[in-house]
Amino acid sequence: MKIGIPKERQVNEARVAVSPDTIKKLRSQNIDILIESGAGLGASFSDDLFLEFGATVLDTGRAVYEQADVLFKIRPPCQSEDLDEISLLKKDSILIGHMSALSDLELMESIAKTGVTAFGLELLPRITRAQSMDVLSSQSNLAGYKAVLEASVEMGRAFPMMMTAAGTVAPAKVFIMGVGVAGLQAIATAKRMGAIVTATDVRPATKEQVESLGGKFLEVDPEIEKDAQTEGGYAKEMPPEYFEKQKLVVASHIQKQDVVITTALVPGKKAPTLITRDMVESMPMGSVIVDLAAEAGGNCELTKSGDLVKHSGVSIIGYNNLPSRLAEDASTLFSKNLLNFLLPLLDSEKGTLNIDWQDEIIKGSLVCKDGVLVHPSLTK
Ligand code: NAI
Repeated sequence: MKIGIPKERQVNEARVAVSPDTIKKLRSQNIDILIESGAGLGASFSDDLFLEFGATVLDTGRAVYEQADVLFKIRPPCQSEDLDEISLLKKDSILIGHMSALSDLELMESIAKTGVTAFGLELLPRITRAQSMDVLSSQSNLAGYKAVLEASVEMGRAFPMMMTAAGTVAPAKVFIMGVGVAGLQAIATAKRMGAIVTATDVRPATKEQVESLGGKFLEVDPEIEKDAQTEGGYAKEMPPEYFEKQKLVVASHIQKQDVVITTALVPGKKAPTLITRDMVESMPMGSVIVDLAAEAGGNCELTKSGDLVKHSGVSIIGYNNLPSRLAEDASTLFSKNLLNFLLPLLDSEKGTLNIDWQDEIIKGSLVCKDGVLVHPSLTK
């Protein structure tokens, strides 16, 4: 069996869907690895390094698409200036990656029509068995860490308290809104850097998690929050009266914060607006907002997706794809997720895949097969 890894062609994407470590593990199963030349450069993996670990490096992306039985991808195939990846997808080959399936139905339909069998790892059910394959968690964790670093670079004040002969520097006050995987890592990182950390979330279970990391939880309305979590562990869309209360609590808290990091998302919906223009204007000059929900519409009214804007002395960072700014680690973890998804499907004696189509993980992540979309959230 041959696994192909083409270069990622989406704009500003530095990650690659393979690492030296995963090549080694796949080679030990007698799987051939075909990588497009230069695919790893954004993640600091040279062609020579890939060759050293036993991969074959091919000159073009086209050759990878033509020869591979299984494709590992970070982002879905696209039509870029130098290659129409979709037209190269082969009937009965297998494609695995973050397909962003729920946000681009048209693209999923064109991928389905090629006859490829595609799995979107962002759709995996959040069950214990799937944790090691969970690309949302591995990448959000890095994004939460990087968000704190981006804030610290932009801010003209320090994070830790410092007592010097010239005077004392007060610790930064950092407020995290949305305590999922990214938010938890942001709390841990800001604490390690010496900040005073507060956090809020609609899901009551997060209060204990915030406190266990040394942060203080900002409560909005425990009565409404009782019903805020879906069975899958995600947040539900909150009623308007909750947002009214949240606005009041956040408005007075935010005036004293140096850094606000927002990560609030509701699957399949636009990100909720948590920070209004008035709130931004009430913040101290020189403070920073990092909006990790920028691509999903933003948690701050003034966020510009993909950009940094300044408003009344406050910097609002809406950079997209923060994991790509940590491309080496992000690629290593992502490719490990792909490997963990593939290995249980492998019949190592025959060197082929033996897929149980009734398995919860397979059913939960299968986007398309035999020319049609099959995932329930895409066929409604
Ligand atoms: P996410 O990225 O969908 O959302 C981020 C956070 O925003 C969530 O904590 C959510 O409650 C919060 N949020 C939504 N609307 C909000 C609002 N109006 N105000 C304030 N906060 C708001 O969430 P993520 O990071 O994917 O995690 C969701 C859950 O899944 C967590 O409980 C996490 O622990 C769990 N999880 C479970 C895994 C498993 O395999 N069992 C793996 C990974 C995560």
